[in-house]
Amino acid sequence: MSDSIKVYIPATIANVASGFDVLGMAIDEPGDVVVVRKTTTPGIVIKNTLPQYNLPTNPAENTAGVSLMAYLKTIESDQGFEIDILEKVNPGGGMGSSAASAVASVFAANKLMGSPLADEELLPAALEGEQVASKAIHNDNVGPALLGGIVLTTSYVPLRVIKITPPDDLVCVVVYPHMKLNTADSRQALPPSYTMHQATEQSANLAGLVAGLINSDYELIRDCLVDVLAEPYRKKLIPGFDEVKSAALENGALGCSISGAGPSIFALTNDYDVAVRVMEAMKVEFGKGGLDTDGYVSKVNADGPRVLD
Ligand code: HSE
Repeated sequence: MSDSIKVYIPATIANVASGFDVLGMAIDEPGDVVVVRKTTTPGIVIKNTLPQYNLPTNPAENTAGVSLMAYLKTIESDQGFEIDILEKVNPGGGMGSSAASAVASVFAANKLMGSPLADEELLPAALEGEQVASKAIHNDNVGPALLGGIVLTTSYVPLRVIKITPPDDLVCVVVYPHMKLNTADSRQALPPSYTMHQATEQSANLAGLVAGLINSDYELIRDCLVDVLAEPYRKKLIPGFDEVKSAALENGALGCSISGAGPSIFALTNDYDVAVRVMEAMKVEFGKGGLDTDGYVSKVNADGPRVLD
C-alpha cells in the first residue's frame, strides 16, 4: 500500500432552502484537492500551501487536523500524517469549504490505513473537524461531502443519515460573490426561537422537497424550495440578494436561496441550458453591486470523494 494519496472532495450546498442543518447536496465542482502522506513519526503536520487563505497550520485549530485527530482516536492509532492542501473551495464562501477539508483528511487517512472504517463511520470524526469552523454541529455539508449525492440527517444522537438519489435531470447553479461570511457569524444572525407557524411551514416545505426529489416531481420541488428559517434573516448579509434571486427565478430556476451560511447563492433547474442562463443572470446582478463572482453549473455529485492517484 502506498504511503501517499491524493483525493478530491466535492463542495456542497447545505440547507437546500428548506432543510436547515439537515439537508445537503454534493456538487461536481468546485472541490478540494488534498494530498495526505503517512509520516514516520507520530503527529499531524499541515503544510500551508495556499497562503492566500491563511489557513491555520496548528492541527488543533484546523478542520482537517481536528477531524484527523478524532479519526486516529477512534481507530486507536498514533500514526503520523502530513496534509497538503493543493486546491480549496473558498473558505467562508458557503460551499462547504471547512467540511471538504474535514472530510479530506479522514477519507484519505482511512484509505492509507487500509480502510478500517466504512465511509459512513468517518462521519463523527469529520463532524468534529467541521465544528471548529462553524462552532456548531451540523451534518448538511459533511454528510454529502463524504457520502456524495443528497443527504438527509434525521438524527444526530445517534447519527442517522439517509441518502436520496437525485432526479436525473437536476442541475445545480452556485454563484459565489467575492466576499467572506463566517458560518459562525451567519448563525448569529438567526433568531433564538421561531413561531409555530414558521416551524410548520418549514416542516411542510422540507417534507415536500424530499418527496419531490425522490419522485423527480419538479413542480413539487419548485413549490417547496422555500426557506422561512434562515433566508429572511441572513439575506441582509449578502448585498443584492433579492435582485440575484429574482434574476434566477425570472430566468427559469425552480428555486433559489442561500447556499449554506452564504454568501454563495444557489439555484436548481431541470435543464442544463436554463442553468447556464440562470448562472449568467445571477452573476450580472451581483456585478451591478460591484461584486466579482465565480459561477458553477453542475450535476449533483453522486459519488462523493474520489482518489485522484
Ligand atoms: N446549516 C448550516 C448553516 C450550514 O446554515 O448554518 C453551514 O454551511
